[in-house]
Amino acid sequence: MSSQSQPNLRIPGPVPLPDDVLELAGSQMINHRGPQYAGMLDRMTANLKTVMMTANDVYFITSSGTGAMETAVVNTISPGDRVLSIIIGAFGERFAEIADAYGADVTRLVFDLGQAADLDRVREAIRGISDLRAVVFTHNESSTGVSNPLEDLCMVIHEESDALILVDAVSSAGGVPISVDAWGIDVVATASQKSWISPPGISMVTFSEKAWEAHSRSTSPKYYLDIEQYRMYLELGQPPFTPCLPAMYTLEVALQSMVDEGIENIFARHHEIAQHTRDGAKALGLELLPDPQFASNTVTAIRLPEDIDGKAFLANVSKNYNVILGGGQKSLVGKIFRVGHMGWVEKSHIDEALKAAEETLKSMTS
Ligand SMILES: Cc1ncc(COP(=O)(O)O)c(C=O)c1O
Repeated sequence: MSSQSQPNLRIPGPVPLPDDVLELAGSQMINHRGPQYAGMLDRMTANLKTVMMTANDVYFITSSGTGAMETAVVNTISPGDRVLSIIIGAFGERFAEIADAYGADVTRLVFDLGQAADLDRVREAIRGISDLRAVVFTHNESSTGVSNPLEDLCMVIHEESDALILVDAVSSAGGVPISVDAWGIDVVATASQKSWISPPGISMVTFSEKAWEAHSRSTSPKYYLDIEQYRMYLELGQPPFTPCLPAMYTLEVALQSMVDEGIENIFARHHEIAQHTRDGAKALGLELLPDPQFASNTVTAIRLPEDIDGKAFLANVSKNYNVILGGGQKSLVGKIFRVGHMGWVEKSHIDEALKAAEETLKSMTS
């Protein structure tokens, strides 16, 4: 993967694809209203339910992850509904902005970058909002490399309210356990280009019974993302709209192999490679951004030494080592770099990326 033609792509998605997956993505188109597609959709739906640990409905949408977040909002929230938005980074703010855009009455609970949501503050915030309709938040904040304690957050929300729980798991689902039914999550949003070892183009959502009740009351405008269309068409073995077939082909294989390998093994693999990355970065004398207790298993955010020009660092790593690292976002631009380790990733990919970072830092300080 480190040959000149194939950079070591270590951003937190899109993830690199192994050759057999790339070949599959290049397969001929099929009739998305024919029996072959129906069989594929049926198998994929069953396997996605297994990975997401849910007996509820799941749907495939032709969009990136943000489309799945918007799907969560437009189908369950109405203008004026009170929404608590827990924000630990850039993607949490995006979820709040989507709810704002549809006229929800959004309260933002913001935590310092590198921190996870504090359960007591979440509890307090919920107690302060009457008629709370929904709590929306990011599971794995890719911009800071922090994973929120999802199960505990769900428990607190259930203890304190009847609010819907809408979760952006774009960069965690498929790599990190999410027990959708056991934890009582109403909508989980994820996307093909992350742990699912597929090209961008397909997002996926889970949808609980409580979310369906909310759907029947929701007056938010919707058409392309109206989940009712996906439900009706699923019964026909079809998508409501023309799907991103290359991503569907590879997702079918990814989902089957995840179920065959066993999801516990996949989660353990992600934990192990994340630990390897964190240990490797620390061995270089670098500091991690996240609170260690909540460090992500799919992306590691590493602080850059203060005297280093972050933009030049990323460019040098790319030019001299053919390794593409993630930069910081918003206020973290130039202050951190990020190493993605979700989906198809081996220790050698991480070692190569860290070596490139080490050599580059050395060359920039000497
Ligand atoms: C946590 C998280 N949420 C949402 C998104 C947005 O997904 P997309 O760019 O696929 O719309 C991303 C993408 O990186 C993400 O990491």
